[in-house]
Amino acid sequence: MKVLATRRYPGPALEELRDVEVRALSEVRGVRSDVEALVVANEPVPADLLPGLRLVANFGVGYDRVGVEALRRRGVAVTNTPGVLDAATADLTWALILAVRRRVVEGDRRVRGGEWTGSWADGFLAEELSGSTLGIVGLGRIGQAVARRAQGFELRVLYTQRQRVETALGEYRELDDLLAEANVVTIHAPLTPETRELIDARRLALLKDGACLVNTARGEIVDEPALVAELAAGRIRAGLDVFAHEPQVPEELLSLPNVVLTPHLGSGTRQAREAMTRIVVDNILALERSDPLVTPVDA
Ligand code: 8YV
Repeated sequence: MKVLATRRYPGPALEELRDVEVRALSEVRGVRSDVEALVVANEPVPADLLPGLRLVANFGVGYDRVGVEALRRRGVAVTNTPGVLDAATADLTWALILAVRRRVVEGDRRVRGGEWTGSWADGFLAEELSGSTLGIVGLGRIGQAVARRAQGFELRVLYTQRQRVETALGEYRELDDLLAEANVVTIHAPLTPETRELIDARRLALLKDGACLVNTARGEIVDEPALVAELAAGRIRAGLDVFAHEPQVPEELLSLPNVVLTPHLGSGTRQAREAMTRIVVDNILALERSDPLVTPVDA
């Protein structure tokens, strides 16, 4: 089976496929009717150029850019890589929460800039994390992994999502109430038409003064210009791993001390990324054997 992969995905699993061509979609010229399986990293699929396509195996849990509905209409299956990146993404979320809340990056800049002159950082105070309230937007697999880690920090945990569930991981709140009550808000929802700009200017204004917003999900879930305005005003703090127009980061953010920026690192551990490739390959092998797909996307 001819497999087209848009990059050399990490780990050894890809070598189990006999016929893989590594080529960016921008380099696919003309119709390629030989390709039956396509591996993408949440990229729009040019289905017209791939009339023989049977499977799009997405490297990533989020598949908002793939165009699942159009593919389904053509009878093309889509799979993703759930589960194996929850720990990595939850860990990065905590790295950002701690970095923002304890001003770690600002402190690092002070040391490098020769601004550490006294015996201790007198006057450079942060807000304590322990004992504060964490609000989780989306208590799916990653949101739950974040909530479990919160117990170690002795946080009160609130959560919101479309469906209220019985859980010991946190107390349910409506989104607006959660935003007004939490000291730290972290987003773990998929990007869908319902969640696009879910956190708009009105909702950003509900955040407490000094609150911290962390986003390791999708930039488009927050109204980015409104977020930039709140951050520029210095009213809130943020840890951002995702942006509305990656890899572009709004210019104004680059000089702000109250925001920590990372380049979409959520699943960026060797273990998570190799496990993601493993799932991609298992789905392609399943298709080849006419077995049920391992992790089909149900749109
Ligand atoms: C990937 C992600 O880096 O899984 C996701 O949804 O955002 C990340 O794990 C990205 O999707 C590229 O595939």
